[in-house]
Amino acid sequence: MLKLALLLATFPGLVQADRWAVIAAGSKGWWNYRHQADACHAYQVLKKSGIPEDHIITMMQDDVANSSENPLKGQLYNKPGDDAVDVRAGCNIDYSGDIVTGALFTGVITGNESAVPANGKVLKSGPNDDVFIYFVDHGGAGIVSFPNGPFYHATQLSMDLEAMQNNTMFNTLIFYMEACYSGSMFTDLPTNGNGRMLALTAANAKESSWGYYCMDADVHGKDIGTCLGDLFSISWMEDSDAADLSTETFKTQIDRVVKRTNKSHVLQFGDTSVESLTLGTLESKLLAAPHSTIGAPSQSNSMKSRDVPSMSAWRKYLNSLDETEKEIYMNLYKLILEGQEADENVFKNIAKNACRVNMLNQMNCEEYLLTAREELKEKHCHYVLASTIDQKCPARSEHNPGGWNHYNMQFSQVLVNVCNKLPELMVDLDVMQQVVELECRMAAAAVRELVV
Ligand SMILES: *[C@@H]1O[C@H](CO)[C@@H](O)[C@H](O)[C@H]1NC(C)=O
Ligand SMILES: *[C@@H]1O[C@H](CO)[C@@H](O)[C@H](O)[C@H]1NC(C)=O
Ligand SMILES: *[C@@H]1O[C@H](CO)[C@@H](O)[C@H](O)[C@H]1NC(C)=O
Ligand SMILES: *[C@@H]1O[C@H](CO)[C@@H](O)[C@H](O)[C@H]1NC(C)=O
Repeated sequence: MLKLALLLATFPGLVQADRWAVIAAGSKGWWNYRHQADACHAYQVLKKSGIPEDHIITMMQDDVANSSENPLKGQLYNKPGDDAVDVRAGCNIDYSGDIVTGALFTGVITGNESAVPANGKVLKSGPNDDVFIYFVDHGGAGIVSFPNGPFYHATQLSMDLEAMQNNTMFNTLIFYMEACYSGSMFTDLPTNGNGRMLALTAANAKESSWGYYCMDADVHGKDIGTCLGDLFSISWMEDSDAADLSTETFKTQIDRVVKRTNKSHVLQFGDTSVESLTLGTLESKLLAAPHSTIGAPSQSNSMKSRDVPSMSAWRKYLNSLDETEKEIYMNLYKLILEGQEADENVFKNIAKNACRVNMLNQMNCEEYLLTAREELKEKHCHYVLASTIDQKCPARSEHNPGGWNHYNMQFSQVLVNVCNKLPELMVDLDVMQQVVELECRMAAAAVRELVV
């Protein structure tokens, strides 16, 4: 949105254009504090950039600010310090609680009023308008999550963007996505419809994105105890906070964000006409080596997204003075690790079973399925298997909408690999689905045993 002001000035024909924005945080639960803090910070940035409040549509669970764990009740901070600003104040949330789902997101961005609660806001942008979408949450190959499930698949995202094009809902669409493996979500970005799209992702298709402000998360003298932000997100927003919005270009911002987000590879997808029109001489190769940065991350305050809950519980354990509290956090820590191990075993067993009859090199079959980084090609198959995990695998915490969680989403890649190799594995999708279902049922039964 930064460059948009400039864009409008450069193309007088577009001066009448409106600007719209959609902000979505896809998680819930205290350990995911950072996503809601990122989302409210984004709201503040977009408001400051001049987008009218009624043109900004926000959705998030909104369960964190008033969480019993929050030492600063009702407030959210996206950075540490005594001068940190409460980003929750004045952050107008249009959709909160149980209604926040992928289907709601689809309804909002495609402007479908029947898909949202009565009188709910949807995008009403037209062909001259510029739209900015920001999504922050957990992800895996080809999937990202929403707090009340089910997962949102890359094919759905492509369909939604195509529907926006068909409905001529934008002149320029900029989509910033923070999630692990987010580079896998835009491989099908439609390029020849109406309007121009540019997507920027926090990570490539094969890596984690990173939580930030994790260890030294003191705000106004209180230790928040979990990460306050995500590296890619705070990079673009702090850059926006510091920028002169009337002159900074997207190119400048993207360059800086790429440099600062040096723990993962920020990727850019989209229509090349967007680059030349709005971003001038945007470098096509964004995998440039990190150069000098603004406020570089250090090992101590950034953390792989999927490790945030276990590390936060461990830290709470270390820092608690009370013995009972110590025990609670130690048990929580153990429970999180047990769940992770059990989830890992589900996917190891899926690979093992998939390799029973196979024409891949017998020795390497399992290892291949577990470690290869194939591109998402067999989308239907992947959707089917991912749905089976969602519906049949156990939810590891009350905050998980289904079988997918912040930790096991990394194994969505295993399903991508399996699906691409089905012919060589000589297994039908039906059979593969039964295998996945069986492993999920066994994992669910083990959870029940643990609880009883
Ligand atoms: C938190 O609770 C207070 C008191 O009930 C309420 O006024 C406030 O709106 C709540 N804030 C959020 C973000 O839910
Ligand atoms: C709008 O949403 C409704 C309810 O989910 C759905 O039945 C309908 O097909 C959607 N319309 C379009 C054009 O996608
Ligand atoms: C967009 O329009 C094209 C051409 O009419 C059509 O084939 C396609 O199904 C539409 N896509 C969506 C998601 O509505
Ligand atoms: C990121 O940049 C900082 C500062 O330049 C440097 O200390 C750190 O090692 C870099 N991290 C990676 C993964 O390159």
